[in-house]
Amino acid sequence: MKSTYYLTTAIYYANAEPHIGHAIEMLYADVMARYQRLLGKDVYFLTGTDEHGQKILESANAAGKPLQEFVNEKSAVYQNLADQWNISNNDFIRTTEQRHIQGAQKFWSESLKSGDIYKKSYTGLYCYGCESFKTEKDLVDGKCPDHNRAPETVSEENYFFRLSRYQEPLEFLFQERKNFVYPESRYNEMHNILKAGLDDISISRTKDKLPWGVPVPADDTQVMYVWFDALTNYITALGYGSSNEKLLQKFWPGVNIVGKEINRFHSLLWPAMLMSAGVDVPKQIAVHGWMTVDGQKMSKTIGNVINPLEIVQQYPLEAVRFFLMREIPFDNDGDFSHSKFSQRYTGDLANGIGNLTNRILTMIEKYCGNAVPAVEKIDSDLINFLTKEIWPAYTAGMEGWRFDRALEATWKFITHCDQMISDKQPWAMAKAGKNAEVNDLLYHLAEALRHIAVMVWPVIPETAEKIMTQLGLNVAQEYAKSLNELQQWVELTVGNKIAKGEQLFPRLI
Ligand code: MSP
Repeated sequence: MKSTYYLTTAIYYANAEPHIGHAIEMLYADVMARYQRLLGKDVYFLTGTDEHGQKILESANAAGKPLQEFVNEKSAVYQNLADQWNISNNDFIRTTEQRHIQGAQKFWSESLKSGDIYKKSYTGLYCYGCESFKTEKDLVDGKCPDHNRAPETVSEENYFFRLSRYQEPLEFLFQERKNFVYPESRYNEMHNILKAGLDDISISRTKDKLPWGVPVPADDTQVMYVWFDALTNYITALGYGSSNEKLLQKFWPGVNIVGKEINRFHSLLWPAMLMSAGVDVPKQIAVHGWMTVDGQKMSKTIGNVINPLEIVQQYPLEAVRFFLMREIPFDNDGDFSHSKFSQRYTGDLANGIGNLTNRILTMIEKYCGNAVPAVEKIDSDLINFLTKEIWPAYTAGMEGWRFDRALEATWKFITHCDQMISDKQPWAMAKAGKNAEVNDLLYHLAEALRHIAVMVWPVIPETAEKIMTQLGLNVAQEYAKSLNELQQWVELTVGNKIAKGEQLFPRLI
């Protein structure tokens, strides 16, 4: 049986338009999902929208729309984003769906049975931007630094989750599994918070104050705290709490991909919740950094928000996908700017992979009768470079969420191939009648191009498939092969008719 791999993005608040920071998270997940499929795994990839809570309520009121209608519209925009960006998710969960509500309620009941939920009166400072309670020390000049807004004093009788009871089990988890949170810097941050001690947290709101949430089972005066509801989406989408838990059994535990500001909810609260409800903790919390635009945090006031649906009207989607994965390392913050985009477009795409493909195919057309030539003499230097240096660097990058490094290795190989052409000058060899040498060189270059197509497949799938088709390969047949097979040298069949197409990346005007 195939091994399985389950991965999720965070679910996006259905109260605002998506920006490119949301899109990059979907993209990181998509690249990993496609890579894992290439490894031959049975992959399940989930994304979705977070549709309850005070923030959504306020936004719907401000828009003057009925709540359900409001979230339907906003969620549709995220679903469209996933489609437009060629995100290969298997499912899209919405927290207002019945399948989620029933699962979240079942989860609550299980935690209650474990004795981890109790009621108490509470007064606290609540930030609607974060959808969480703050302590005085979290504030700067009395305001939440992330939302530049003073929290409101909330005083009510709520249900509490005994997070403090999971102090030791969490410490054990962190001791046993050093890669539970990736990267290490994020692991350390969480470990330090954990070591400082965890307090119980409020997990419900009174319905009269917040009428928009999952009803607490057997208490119709309260709704669940939005995070307690939202976190369970990762398992409710797999059927948790329904009559069919097959997907849950098959795919859970999985990897949760989230941004740095919500790491705490995922690395501390979420595993404690799961332990309480008797469900396995995630395989890993993979934490990415934040994207800025022209060196600044995106904000409406600055006017630098990049809409991911608009940017792919302006530039080809594949180029945007490439740029983000090449330029913004998963484990750190990174910046988008139009000037950097054009530089990479011209340097790496138009003059890099696009030009190399065109050069190789044009020469095969011209010198080899439009078919992959036969080879006499094997260039073991090239093969060694590819198999001993490039593929290992590529694989290490992909396995470790460093897609930028995987692409860096691929482009090192592209540059190497370009250099081979400049050094050997096949046009001069042809003129001198050295046909066998021309054939040898172009055979190697065609095979090298096939390797390049496989490497870029998870990131720019359409380009990869165009290259394969141009090399006379059948994409479905290639897809059915394992990465191990695809990585072998001489997979390309001599005599394959090549079909040179349009320039892959025409120059931007
Ligand atoms: N709804 C919660 C998550 C609940 S998960 C059970 C939420 N939503 S969000 O819409 O505010 O953020 C969703 C994801 O987008 C988060 O992982 C967040 O880090 C990510 N990003 C938001 N802005 C971002 C950037 N500027 N850059 C990269 N990712 C960013 O939090």
